[in-house]
Amino acid sequence: MCGIVGYIGTNDSKEILLKGLEKLEYRGYDSAGIAVVNENGVHVFKEKGRIADLRESVVAGVNANAGIGHTRWATHGPPSKRNAHPHQSASTRYTIVHNGVIENFDSLKREFMGNVDLQSDTDTEVIVQMINLFANEGLSTLEAFRKTLGLLKGSYALALLDNEDNETIYVAKNKSPLLVGLGDTFNVVASDAMAMLQVTDQFVELMDKEIVLVKKDEVTIQNLKGEIISRAPFKAELDASDIEKGTYPHYMLKEIDEQPLVIRKIVQKYQDETGKLTIDGDIVNAINQAGRIYIIAAGTSYHAGLVGKQLIEKVAKVPVEVHISSEFGYNMPLLSEKPLFIFISQSGETADSRAVLVEIKEMGYQALTITNVQGSTLSREADYTLLLHAGPEIAVASTKAYTAQIAVLAILAEVTAKSRGINLDFDLVKELGLVATAIETLCDSKEIIEQISREFLSVTRNCFFIGRAVDYYVGLEGALKLKEISYIQAEGFAGGELKHGTIALIEEGTPVIALATQESVNLSIRGNVKEVVARGANPCIISMKGLESDEDSFVIPEVHGLLTPLISVIPLQLLAYYAALHRDCDVDKPRNLAKSVTVE
Ligand code: G6P
Repeated sequence: MCGIVGYIGTNDSKEILLKGLEKLEYRGYDSAGIAVVNENGVHVFKEKGRIADLRESVVAGVNANAGIGHTRWATHGPPSKRNAHPHQSASTRYTIVHNGVIENFDSLKREFMGNVDLQSDTDTEVIVQMINLFANEGLSTLEAFRKTLGLLKGSYALALLDNEDNETIYVAKNKSPLLVGLGDTFNVVASDAMAMLQVTDQFVELMDKEIVLVKKDEVTIQNLKGEIISRAPFKAELDASDIEKGTYPHYMLKEIDEQPLVIRKIVQKYQDETGKLTIDGDIVNAINQAGRIYIIAAGTSYHAGLVGKQLIEKVAKVPVEVHISSEFGYNMPLLSEKPLFIFISQSGETADSRAVLVEIKEMGYQALTITNVQGSTLSREADYTLLLHAGPEIAVASTKAYTAQIAVLAILAEVTAKSRGINLDFDLVKELGLVATAIETLCDSKEIIEQISREFLSVTRNCFFIGRAVDYYVGLEGALKLKEISYIQAEGFAGGELKHGTIALIEEGTPVIALATQESVNLSIRGNVKEVVARGANPCIISMKGLESDEDSFVIPEVHGLLTPLISVIPLQLLAYYAALHRDCDVDKPRNLAKSVTVE
């Protein structure tokens, strides 16, 4: 949610900043800007829209060896050039970019902005104006910055330029992610290592409430008291090719196709030398000692959590509840005696989930994070982490992270079951191998799925997904994918529930996508299909081999009954993809969304 970059070195900074912002566009893309500083002062360029729009407005002739940049997902004030970052103090001495939300922005505005003519609706501008006020009172830039930070409540990753000093970028963070990247003759700042992989793979993690002075040949980290902190850099384990689209028209399609590889990689990463699946013993012990597991997640990760509940309860026989993170904090259920929390998050940065993590840690409970991003906030702050090994997921609509989350949860369930002496009648390594092959087959069926998408989704304004048992959970994910990227109003329902109200919305031709991958509910879901057909619905039944019937639109290969979500979701991801494509939607960057939602 908003991405920031900074560069200070010996080269012209503009192109490095723009390239960095392009890599951060997944974090927000309603407006963007850069500010560069040279001996003539600070030059600001900003534009509503995408980085491509900003690129056109940047004046090539302005050369500067230091600069900051921002791509925005609006929180305070609508997307516009006026609200785009960077923001400047009235004196134009200070220029800032910010990711996060300042919660006490209204009271700071009342207290400090009485005589300031604010130029934007943003919380960010108040920060830069405060720094300016304190500098006018005689404080150095560092002192003014520190004093301002001490007054802020909320989340921030900040990069600040002072046009009286073109040799320093002032940086600070609290709750929002930020890294400093190291080079020989330059240093950089970025919300995510991906942005600066173009110039370095050496990064230093920053902790909350730290201030960093970034110069071209020196990086100094200090805490709010001014004490110097030393921290070793880490090497970002990312391959530049992982973050390129290659020959694919969209990241989403690339990521859908990567799923067989991801499943195989996960199996390999969680196998020991003998080929047995293994998980850190402390994690398994924590589960075995828990009275109940609470899975906390948002969006697609929440849907993966629902499937994970089935796996853990059915395989490992441990009770599990699944909660939406933004609800849990405000409406906490009565907890079991020894709760264990599992946070599922592709990015590891989702603010709603983090708020719960902070709260349950204060209550003294243990947490495991299942995430794709090593070193992410949720990973660092939990007691344990299991990685997804899915490689960077860039399309806003999550695909490979969902299947990776389910695969890791299946492994966790299997290893836990074995530690409890539960005999399993399947070999998970073999079954996941079959899943990977089945996904390959499905990815080879794109033409058929595109045709189905044309037939059912090209003109409709709404669509229902129905399923029973675990198919219901996959239907929820199918509906989310469709609405996220094609803007078709789509809802997932338990097969038996539609008739309790929502069936009133079925009209002649309304598409109803029904999943039938579970033998135990195959007949009953087909009964539900008949109910909607009797009211004019256009049914698209996706069944599994062995359960198919002549009326079905698509049949997926047979896999183990507990693992069907890993493959039944693939045609739903592809249906959404083609529906978005046929409607000329921006598949990878759907309107109003962002991939990493770092505001509550
Ligand atoms: C955003 C994204 C969703 C994602 C959700 C949770 O809303 O647009 O695709 O599922 O955040 O993200 P997380 O990184 O915690 O899995």
